[in-house]
Amino acid sequence: MKRIAIFASGAGSNAEKIIHHFQHHSTIQVVLIACNKPGAGVIAIAEKNGLPVLLLEKEQFFRGDHYINELHANAVDFIILAGFLWKLPVKLIESFPERILNIHPALLPDYGGKGMYGQFVHAAVLAAGDTQSGITIHVVDELYDNGKTVFTAACPVFPDDTPDTLASRIHTLEHTYYPKVIEDYIAAFEKNKTYPI
Ligand code: GRF
Repeated sequence: MKRIAIFASGAGSNAEKIIHHFQHHSTIQVVLIACNKPGAGVIAIAEKNGLPVLLLEKEQFFRGDHYINELHANAVDFIILAGFLWKLPVKLIESFPERILNIHPALLPDYGGKGMYGQFVHAAVLAAGDTQSGITIHVVDELYDNGKTVFTAACPVFPDDTPDTLASRIHTLEHTYYPKVIEDYIAAFEKNKTYPI
């Protein structure tokens, strides 16, 4: 079994889709939810699905390898970021080379980088008058929203969109593709010990 930890800070709708996708999977299982926000929606989702929650404390997270040990103790193979807002420390990335994926709610490299998350992304897309947006699933390296792209999908932006209506269209794309892309990525990675791009 390949074991996934999902890192999420928000409502957790993507985490929920991923948990359900792998619920009866023969080779991949979600074993842990890591979260830095007490009270976040994702915590209730973890509890509902009988998954342990690792509550990340800021100083520990950014200073040491405390959580790296904790992840290894849980035999975690892959980390999936699903609405996780803290930048991962280099040590953590180095402990899981090419084994961390993130989803970004726009077509990178546009609308990526520090401060570009959630409604800020959608507001910027609308302010620019773009007619298309989408999602990018990428490998995580030491720079924000920078690692190699694994998958993209696009959707239209309509003239009467608000950040909320665009966010909901993007969420639908995320829910449709992220679980399957994770599954395919892990399968390809296990076969080649890297991702073939
Ligand atoms: C998603 O749009 C994801 O792309 C972004 O944060 C949002 C998380 O939503 N990075 P949810 O918590 O999965 O509902």
